[in-house]
Amino acid sequence: MTQSLAKRIPCAVLGATGVVGQRLVARLSRHPWFELAHLCASEKSAGKRYADACEWRLGPERGPAHGGVGDLVVERCDPARVAAPLVFSALDTEPARELEPAFAQAGSFVASNASAFRMASDVPIVIPELNAAHLDLVLEQRRARGWRGAIVCKPNCTTVPVALPLGVLDAAFGVEAVHATSLQAVSGAGWPGVSSLDILGNVVPFIRGEEEKLEQETVKLLGRLGERAILAASFPVSAACHRVPVENGHMVAVSVRLRGAPSVDAVRAALDAWRPSTLEHALPSAPARALVVHSAENRPQPKLDAESHDGMSVHVGRVRRCAVLGIQFSALVHNAERGAAGGNVLYAELARARGLFG
Ligand SMILES: NC(=O)c1ccc[n+]([C@@H]2O[C@H](COP(=O)([O-])OP(=O)(O)OC[C@H]3O[C@@H](n4cnc5c(N)ncnc54)[C@H](OP(=O)(O)O)[C@@H]3O)[C@@H](O)[C@H]2O)c1
Repeated sequence: MTQSLAKRIPCAVLGATGVVGQRLVARLSRHPWFELAHLCASEKSAGKRYADACEWRLGPERGPAHGGVGDLVVERCDPARVAAPLVFSALDTEPARELEPAFAQAGSFVASNASAFRMASDVPIVIPELNAAHLDLVLEQRRARGWRGAIVCKPNCTTVPVALPLGVLDAAFGVEAVHATSLQAVSGAGWPGVSSLDILGNVVPFIRGEEEKLEQETVKLLGRLGERAILAASFPVSAACHRVPVENGHMVAVSVRLRGAPSVDAVRAALDAWRPSTLEHALPSAPARALVVHSAENRPQPKLDAESHDGMSVHVGRVRRCAVLGIQFSALVHNAERGAAGGNVLYAELARARGLFG
């Protein structure tokens, strides 16, 4: 660690009233390194007590209602008034496009859940256990844009359970081609999300922009850090995304062609043996197991596995032969925790440990 972590860093949450924002508030109100100082949302919510602006939708397992900060007054997302070294953004894409650079320019390190800047060449998308080195792109971003702050993104929630095991397999064997079919929970669409009449007893085989995100972000995450940009991995990824009537937990069926056509046993052993580096493992929000490999033939399942390890593990199971690409497996993540709020907080911890703000 490059600096003392004793002093808690004040932080703001943009979009604090939404699905992801509430989970950020729950995590940050009990965080050892970060101190929740500002809750921000749209004009509709600004000026109200957080408890009045936000209908709290998390159960007691995520701590007290409204994170215990229901008396804080919600502010407008205005960087001139909300000065914090660390800003978590849980904004929708359109407001994020304008507000995230304004905060970065004003000097904040912006940890973003939104997709607005994920594919910008000087913006890293980070899963600490997979591509911590990509965080260094922040230095180039600051130089090129003249910012004191920065924008760093987490991947799309569906990309997380695909990219982490693929990263392990790429290091062990080399990935040559991927096909991924997702089954995504309704909470991934925010609140109120998909209408109940559209999703109950149904599957919707289209989520706008999702297949492109899964295809492009996976190769960016598994790419190499160049001087001015991430050089994307060269293997093709083909994705098909579906919304299913599940509350939390995105499942993805992944088929992969690996160099040298390793056996199912060799692939399972590589996934099972993998552990993150010491630093990534030591971060406050890191789970005891970042990658859980299941041996039961009917796991992982959203209902049984998404919440385990505080919603921070990626689950893999059903590692088996694929007649087309060689290997297939099922992967699962809690879309709103490791796939959003928890993943967001984890790489902010890594950035703090590396002295990128504070
Ligand atoms: N849900 C997931 O599982 C998930 C996973 C990964 C990534 N994400 C991404 O995370 C972001 C938030 O998603 P969500 O599901 O939490 O959405 P959400 O429930 O719809 O919440 C959106 C938040 O943005 C605020 N907001 C909307 N327009 C605004 C504006 N013009 N200015 C300031 N604040 C504004 C809302 O405040 P008001 O209440 O005041 O309107 C609310 O706090 C999105 O970019 C989404 O793609 C979501």
